[in-house]
Amino acid sequence: MGSYKFIFFATLTIQCVFAAKNCNFPAIFNFGDSNSDTGGLAASFGPIPSPSGETFFHSPQGRDCDGRLVIDFIAQSLGLPFVHPYLDSIGANFTRGANFATAGSTIRRQNTTFFQTGYSPFSMDVQSWQYDQFVNRSLSTKNAVFKELLPTADSISNGLYTIDVGQNDLTSAYVQGMTTEQVMAEVPDMIKKLVIVIQNIYWNGGRSFWIHNTGPFGCLPYVLDRFPLTAAEVDKFGCGSTFNSVAQYYNKKLKEAVVQLRKQFPLASFTYVDIYSVKFAVITKASELGFEHPLMACCGHGGKYNFNIKWGCGYTYWIHGKPVQVAKSCKDPSVRVNWDGYHFTEAANKWIFNQIVNGAYSDPPTPISQACSAKDS
Ligand SMILES: *[C@@H]1O[C@H](CO)[C@@H](O)[C@H](O)[C@H]1NC(C)=O
Ligand SMILES: *[C@@H]1O[C@H](CO)[C@@H](O)[C@H](O)[C@H]1NC(C)=O
Ligand SMILES: *[C@@H]1O[C@H](CO)[C@@H](O)[C@H](O)[C@H]1NC(C)=O
Repeated sequence: MGSYKFIFFATLTIQCVFAAKNCNFPAIFNFGDSNSDTGGLAASFGPIPSPSGETFFHSPQGRDCDGRLVIDFIAQSLGLPFVHPYLDSIGANFTRGANFATAGSTIRRQNTTFFQTGYSPFSMDVQSWQYDQFVNRSLSTKNAVFKELLPTADSISNGLYTIDVGQNDLTSAYVQGMTTEQVMAEVPDMIKKLVIVIQNIYWNGGRSFWIHNTGPFGCLPYVLDRFPLTAAEVDKFGCGSTFNSVAQYYNKKLKEAVVQLRKQFPLASFTYVDIYSVKFAVITKASELGFEHPLMACCGHGGKYNFNIKWGCGYTYWIHGKPVQVAKSCKDPSVRVNWDGYHFTEAANKWIFNQIVNGAYSDPPTPISQACSAKDS
């Protein structure tokens, strides 16, 4: 009986493998915050200083990282070029997609400016309007020059739509002085506004959605430095457990919203990716995985977390006409988890990507290369 069951199960597995089809995504359209900003904020507000980019690009490339982000590993794994920032108006080729994400983006429009609090003016509603115009212009252009630089209708509908956002809405609520209860009470509105953006993408033709949940921001140096915690609020890894519970609450609501979206749009494919668990693992199992000092910024200056909000990664002052960089890279970013107090290193991003690429953290457990809508398979 046991062996019969085993054979039956094995056959099923083989059938699944044969049935699964590669989507051959022609493009990637990405939305979100600095976790996936490939140069949008930099195109608008000025470049990110060296040593960003040092590991992979060998020069700053608009990413808050020493190298590639998860979205870059996704693009490479799908055989596509790095996703070009929509806001980068010089020399951009959008035939294989566009990236609307900017560092500091929130889902909800903030009531403060970038200059006051650093949150990006390109909140998800604005990214969604940019996308509307982008689609309209891509479809209506009659000029051959632009046709060579913009996606076709086929790429727009068969492209992969990746979304990674949420963390900044939660932290901005704390920055405003809200209590945890108040922050949690805002979460349904955050999710509601995110759902509107996803629905809008659907109405524009998008069908394949790959949605990351939000990470354990309670383990990030900038949060730990800004909001000193009592012993009761710190877990055994040194992370702010209350902040992480809020992230998990947000993720629970996001997952519920994804279930509703599947009901509303049966022709589309929605993959919910639990990147929270992967990020939490790389921090809490750092030494097992060959990483060091997971709660410390590699590139920063001073303090318990090698992080100082005034002297961020790359901060340089001039003395007697000579530059003095006070926030430099650590010796070996390849063994570090956190790059600049806010973001993961390329090495951590690569590890995170390797965990999620085959669907092990996804609902449904679909590899990214197969995460397209059923109508095409
Ligand atoms: C901005 O202010 C309005 C009016 O007070 C409020 O309803 C809204 O929630 C605020 N937005 C954020 C992100 O705090
Ligand atoms: C896009 O085109 C449609 C149809 O022509 C129009 O109704 C809509 O207002 C346009 N949207 C934008 C953002 O230009
Ligand atoms: C834009 O990129 C596509 C795909 O990589 C390529 O086929 C096309 O020639 C490029 N267009 C221009 C004008 O370089």
